[in-house]
Amino acid sequence: MANEMVRKFWGQKTYCIVTGASQGIGRNFAIEFSKQFGSDSVIVLMSRSFSGLESTSRLIAAANPNVKVKVHIVDLSIPKKDALETIVTESAGDPSQYSLSILVHNAGSLGKVNHLASEMNDISEWNTFMALNLYSVTMLTAAFLNVFKTGHRTLINVTSLCALQPFKSLGYYCIGKTSREMYFRVLAEENPSLDILNYSPGPVNTGMITDVIESVKSGETKTLFENLRNTGGLVSLDQTTARIIEVLRNGKYKSGDRVDYFEPL
Ligand SMILES: NC(=O)c1ccc[n+]([C@@H]2O[C@H](COP(=O)([O-])OP(=O)(O)OC[C@H]3O[C@@H](n4cnc5c(N)ncnc54)[C@H](OP(=O)(O)O)[C@@H]3O)[C@@H](O)[C@H]2O)c1
Repeated sequence: MANEMVRKFWGQKTYCIVTGASQGIGRNFAIEFSKQFGSDSVIVLMSRSFSGLESTSRLIAAANPNVKVKVHIVDLSIPKKDALETIVTESAGDPSQYSLSILVHNAGSLGKVNHLASEMNDISEWNTFMALNLYSVTMLTAAFLNVFKTGHRTLINVTSLCALQPFKSLGYYCIGKTSREMYFRVLAEENPSLDILNYSPGPVNTGMITDVIESVKSGETKTLFENLRNTGGLVSLDQTTARIIEVLRNGKYKSGDRVDYFEPL
């Protein structure tokens, strides 16, 4: 939404879904976004871990008791259209009561990183990976847009530098992020009234980075991430969350474009 003025974004009665809200970036976004919401807002948290979502829910209640939290245990690698539609329909109630609706597609996985691109020959591995990282994203978006047909609708895709740049042994991850980002670019092209942000959070200090370092097949990729970690090159959860909150407040991006943590505001 290119706009010279600071737009009204935070502080409104908001409906928000965050996928992968049980830990890491999703949890931090859910808590910090909730602090920005107006009274009687609703936030829906999804992931597979009940205990993780419950912890996030308690942290949101402590941060802003005026926000209602709804928790849904969902395995997005086995996405079910009817179940996703029911979650959005029932948690939203009358969509016209909200001034802003937000869908944060944060859940994601690395895929097998002990493989090279020349070894990616397992169809069930592909299907599970793409179901979580792309297909469920399109299905949840469809369910969301089926309920929120008008008004200010913001869709956030948590993307990565890996959508643009190839890294050895990160074939699944790079392909997943590229395809997911292109989905949102097509969606933006087709729907000029939507507010779509592909946000690349920088290399954030979460379990995902540890997983890369511990399991990646390519020594070059391992060294790259080890160096980032050992030289203080990782971004903190609070830093990247503060940045996206500011990006959304300013709304200076063009719908469908990507904004990187390292870009100047
Ligand atoms: N960390 C980074 O440096 C970095 C950089 C760029 C982009 N990103 C992206 O940021 C997002 C969050 O990553 P993170 O670093 O916070 O990783 P993380 O700590 O591993 O969190 C991943 C989240 O996704 C959820 N998830 C995984 N598989 C799922 C499934 N099958 N169904 C439902 N939810 C599932 C997890 O919840 P459950 O396990 O409870 O299901 C968890 O809440 C990802 O899309 C990642 O690609 C991360």
